[in-house]
Amino acid sequence: MSEILDHAREVALKAGQFLKENLGSLTESDIGYKGYIDLVTRIDRESEEMIVREIGSRFPEHGILAEESARKESETGLTWVIDPLDGTTNYVHSFPLFCVSIAVCRSDEPVAGVIYAPCMDELFSAESGQGAHLNGKEIHVSGGDSIGDGFFCTGFASLRNREAPDNIGNFIRVLKRAQGVRRGGSAALELAYVAAGRFEAFWELNLSPWDVAAGVAIIREAGGKLTDMRGGSDYLRGSSILASNSKVHQDLLDLLDPEERTEEPKR
Ligand code: 2AM
Ligand code: CA
Repeated sequence: MSEILDHAREVALKAGQFLKENLGSLTESDIGYKGYIDLVTRIDRESEEMIVREIGSRFPEHGILAEESARKESETGLTWVIDPLDGTTNYVHSFPLFCVSIAVCRSDEPVAGVIYAPCMDELFSAESGQGAHLNGKEIHVSGGDSIGDGFFCTGFASLRNREAPDNIGNFIRVLKRAQGVRRGGSAALELAYVAAGRFEAFWELNLSPWDVAAGVAIIREAGGKLTDMRGGSDYLRGSSILASNSKVHQDLLDLLDPEERTEEPKR
């Protein structure tokens, strides 16, 4: 597995460098929509082509599940789960919170993960049983055990579907009790920040496997806890995820409602 993780790191660094070099270079014709506010750019596609090519030439028998292309089935049980640019909306606006996220799954379970944020030059990585690391140093989830002293993060991928539960009531409830709540716009990177102890927890609705798989591998190795927002185990391709330092997990489950949809306030 170490050889695989080394390759994942190498490819993530290369793709991240590409993202950074091209930051601010997009023109209107480079940007398209997958949904009504769901952006995709030439850079997402070029980054993914490069990652898929590099992995395919080194490990041709492995499967590949990547955000912008068709799935390639695995001959070995190992599949790479790739987001070539997590935080596309941030990227389009040259807001530096974005990353490359690459996981390796065995029978759909993440066993290794790499998340690289090129603007901060931070490389998070983990492999089953080997701990989690940031730029080579071991990382752990935080020790904070109260919502009141806690620093949290969430996101609103859910707003891409106008009919779905929207996470806004959850945001308000935690915001009113916590030390702070952020919404960064890059789920993968925010999961890495939970692993590094920067946030006590992160939650979000409606993410996809490529948004969370690498973060899941890293948080597990950093000592965190993962469930869906009902406390169950359907967080990889389910409709919600709660990732925490474990100490605040139950208190957050008590506050979060994965079904709620909030009416727009009257002006
Ligand atoms: P992306 O930038 O790779 O699209 C923001 O809340 C998070 O939601 C980001 O990680 C973003 O990833 C993700 N996201 C955006 N559109 C999504 C969609 N249609 N389905 C799932 N996740 C999405
Ligand atoms: Ca993406």
